[in-house]
Amino acid sequence: MGIGATAGVAAVGGIALNANASAGGTSNGANGALVFDPDGYTELSTTVTDTAGNDHSVTYHFWKAITYVAKPVDEAYQSLNVSVPVTIDGKAVDASDAPILLANSVGGYMPSSVADATGIGGAGMGGGAGGGAPSASASASPSAGAPAPGANGNTNADGGAMNANQLLALAAGYVVVEPGARGRTLKDSSGEYYGTAPAAIVDLKAAVRYIRSNRGRIPGDVERIVSAGTSAGGALSSLLGASGDSPLYDRYLKEIGAADASDAIFATGAWCPIIDLEHADGAYEWCWGTNTLSTGEQVDQTVSKELRSQFAEYQAKLRLRGLKGSGFGTLTARNYDDYLVEQYLEPSATAYLKGLSDSARATYLAANTFIDWDGTRATFTWADFLTHVGARKKDAPSFDAWDLSSGENNEFGAGTTEARHFTAYGARNDTTGLATKRIASDIPEKLNLMNPMYHLVEKANGRRSKHWWIRLGTKDSDTSLTIAANLAAAASGLGDDVNHLYYWDQGHGANTDPGDFITWIAEVTGHKK
Ligand code: DHB
Repeated sequence: MGIGATAGVAAVGGIALNANASAGGTSNGANGALVFDPDGYTELSTTVTDTAGNDHSVTYHFWKAITYVAKPVDEAYQSLNVSVPVTIDGKAVDASDAPILLANSVGGYMPSSVADATGIGGAGMGGGAGGGAPSASASASPSAGAPAPGANGNTNADGGAMNANQLLALAAGYVVVEPGARGRTLKDSSGEYYGTAPAAIVDLKAAVRYIRSNRGRIPGDVERIVSAGTSAGGALSSLLGASGDSPLYDRYLKEIGAADASDAIFATGAWCPIIDLEHADGAYEWCWGTNTLSTGEQVDQTVSKELRSQFAEYQAKLRLRGLKGSGFGTLTARNYDDYLVEQYLEPSATAYLKGLSDSARATYLAANTFIDWDGTRATFTWADFLTHVGARKKDAPSFDAWDLSSGENNEFGAGTTEARHFTAYGARNDTTGLATKRIASDIPEKLNLMNPMYHLVEKANGRRSKHWWIRLGTKDSDTSLTIAANLAAAASGLGDDVNHLYYWDQGHGANTDPGDFITWIAEVTGHKK
């Protein structure tokens, strides 16, 4: 516990020892063969500090900006980097059967490119969430949706978390693939948006298909692809896990010339996934509805209550049960507060407090008297927890903004239309002059294409990932705390192996146990060093 997102991991160096690669990106040629070139790498070196503070020198082969589709719309985004360790602390490693960590750096549903990276975990042009998280609806809430720049010592809110995963994976002997993907703001010269839904998930699926179709040429076990991502990237990671081989994406994948192979993945890592967008406004009000904004104002309580009742209806319809051993049956708007407190929040606080020195614990408890600590266990009420979290990040509605100002409105844009409504409630209350007051006819299918809950709950997709690592900060009000818990409950309800913890007092984008994630990958994949 207590390891900051970037604190445990540092990379230095990056010296090119051997330049096998031709200059620039590795093109697949005009024939669209999508054949990985085993010799097309540069040898680099880096130092990875593990979570115990020990340095490891790693030499690795680095393949840069490989276009992963035969008919790219924009190669700057539809390309991936591959890093394969060859020596760790001077000892040769053979990664040919190692798990493959597929680490996306999407943030805010923005475009993400790895084309300019100079090594593993490097930020490329437009890469990651740099300035990318959407500003949500609120005019009253100027900071809504935008992570604090540099909060983790990185201008990319997700960079710290993702770099930790990538670097630790490399130092554990795994193959690391970093895919770029189109994002919501991309617009061509005729004003057409070409990165809105479902472009990003289609691209990530194409990247998986590229890896799979290069079995035997690309290092690593292509049947042991483990996806990772944070926030919008966590949403896409969980969607990748839930929607494996769904025929819903076929025509999109065909359009861009994706390789003819399975896009199912083995395991899913998702940090603060911003999913279930069409139900997120109701969930948000159920969770944070009475918390004030950072301005001190409350959101419109009539709107908040209407949305909250939508959540109650939706949650009942889901018919999800609490995790095994939780003692909770069907999760509803009435018992979800107790469920969160007992299943996630109290254990999270307990683990945090146990990790503190006696004096630090005493100081923390003196400053947080809402917590009852009996020496082994923290207990508190939901109401006190909400007060402890403080200001909510987003106004109401948080996702389908009436003035179409949220990043998600843009994510559901299409053609030359930058932003659209994606809920009936949002469309009905539109303030931009939308004539029909209805969502567009293509929206329901786009929502299914973007929502892992559809693939898990409605489809019970048999080709989904069966292993789930889900993490969320208890102070993350970018979405409702029920969102990740519902994802966990849905996967668990299908019989999957779910490892879901909340990080105490952590905000948006936290990843405080990256070393445990790397160990978990070895466990679930059966990887032996
Ligand atoms: C992200 C944050 C949000 O608040 C949101 O609505 C979507 C994405 C992000 O950080 O990726």
